[in-house]
Amino acid sequence: MTRTDLPVVQLLERLDLALYESRDGRLLGDAPDWLTELAPEASKGSLEFDDDALPILGDFLGQARRFWQDGARGRLRSGPFVETDARGRGHALEATALRIDGRSLLLIERLGEDYELAVANLQTARENLLVQEELERIVARRTADLREREEELVYRLIRAANLRDNETGAHIRRIGLYSAALARALGWPAATVDDIRLASPMHDLGKVGIPDRILLKPGRLSEDEMAVMRGHTSLGAGILEDSRVPAVRMAAQIAAGHHEWWNGEGYPRGLAAEDIPECARIVAIVDVYDAMCHARSYKPAFPEDRVLDYLRERRARQFDPRLLDVFFERLPEMRRIRELHPDEGMDTAG
Ligand SMILES: [Fe+2]
Ligand SMILES: [Fe+2]
Repeated sequence: MTRTDLPVVQLLERLDLALYESRDGRLLGDAPDWLTELAPEASKGSLEFDDDALPILGDFLGQARRFWQDGARGRLRSGPFVETDARGRGHALEATALRIDGRSLLLIERLGEDYELAVANLQTARENLLVQEELERIVARRTADLREREEELVYRLIRAANLRDNETGAHIRRIGLYSAALARALGWPAATVDDIRLASPMHDLGKVGIPDRILLKPGRLSEDEMAVMRGHTSLGAGILEDSRVPAVRMAAQIAAGHHEWWNGEGYPRGLAAEDIPECARIVAIVDVYDAMCHARSYKPAFPEDRVLDYLRERRARQFDPRLLDVFFERLPEMRRIRELHPDEGMDTAG
């Protein structure tokens, strides 16, 4: 240490600075503690930083060397940055390359605890954000899980109801898919589209309450028997209404309204037009389409063009004309659903 260095050295100790002379890479004065922790080699007096351990300092030293070589005047500042020592502790620093009286100097300044606290807070905020994202992922997973369970319960309920009915499992699945396709085409939001996919298969749930002698009677029903049979709508609604699950509440509306007619001549309440919930008007169309296109123990399958004629004849009488038009526009999609989910031979109790 030379005499001229002395005041500088004292100053450095007070200011928490490290100052290097670039010519011989000499550290002027003693290494501050933080430099020893950060860069053990550099603190012993050689101006080198390990690029892997101290990437920002290493990069700045490269810039500083070019700055000194160019012989430029003035100073080159790094701006504040944080390097982490081997124990994982962050140090907020700022480096400056200087040329003073032909000497090339590197000044590394520790910005202090306030600055480190601010950086630590920023880092905590970022970590909290990651925790938040993780929580959201967990909630999304749980929601999907619950949805799956709801769905399973619904299908088991329908299967129980179908033990007594002659609807097929494939019919049940197709009704859900046609209804969802039509609702999507009408611009329903995704969550509600999913609700109708789950809700529409329950349209005939009330048949569990219809006596076998009527439900399973071959041939035509008498007027009285017909009246009992029509009760499956209100019975189903009674089972499903007042649920906290939106899809089940929708299923109650569908059960109640899927035999109502656009012109008010349907049952059970004789509602007309928009007084019939849209979900029920959707199911009214796709249920008839599907039932007619497929064979049942008591009837053959009809060719699709006959089924479509039947639907067209009932436009604005039985069926909502606007919904029926959209249904016809989407016929290719409906046909694809039928192809993908055909009735299977022994599926009748499905
Ligand atoms: Fe029905
Ligand atoms: Fe049906």
